Amino acid sequence: MVYPIVKFGDPVLEREADNVTEFDTAELHQFLEDMFQSMYASKGVGLAAPQIGFSRKIAVIDVSNGENPSDKLVLINPKIVHIEGKQVGEEGCLSIPGFREQVRRARRVTVRANNVQGEEFERTGEDLLARAFLHETDHLYGRLYITHISALKRDLMKRKIKKLQRAGEWG
Ligand code: NI
Repeated sequence: MVYPIVKFGDPVLEREADNVTEFDTAELHQFLEDMFQSMYASKGVGLAAPQIGFSRKIAVIDVSNGENPSDKLVLINPKIVHIEGKQVGEEGCLSIPGFREQVRRARRVTVRANNVQGEEFERTGEDLLARAFLHETDHLYGRLYITHISALKRDLMKRKIKKLQRAGEWG
């Protein structure tokens, strides 16, 4: 099923999610299927469980946006274990629709995570994939990309969002 995306302002987005301790269950497989469906329905390249209201350390990524099945990635309990280089580029978030900002990130990132069977693996990504590893892992620790922009830009964005909330035009 496709879940609605939780918008900025909901506290579930700003707290650390719970670790996953049970693997390879029918429920987990179904949940991952729902996460991919929800991500594709919103045309995202990554989605974290808190963004559909579940405070669990699970993220899905597909930088090909459904074009290339081998790009489908599941990260459970991910940790960033190595970063190098830098890239500056536009970043957005399905939970903060209508906004994009330049965000400085590492260019090459290694993440360590569990797969659906609970086995630990490492993946190294560059460019957009590196950015997705950082953005989605951040989500699972309650951090949004706006914590990586200047306080001035962040305050401006929050004021615009408040206006939208008051107008009833925000989730
Ligand atoms: Ni996001």
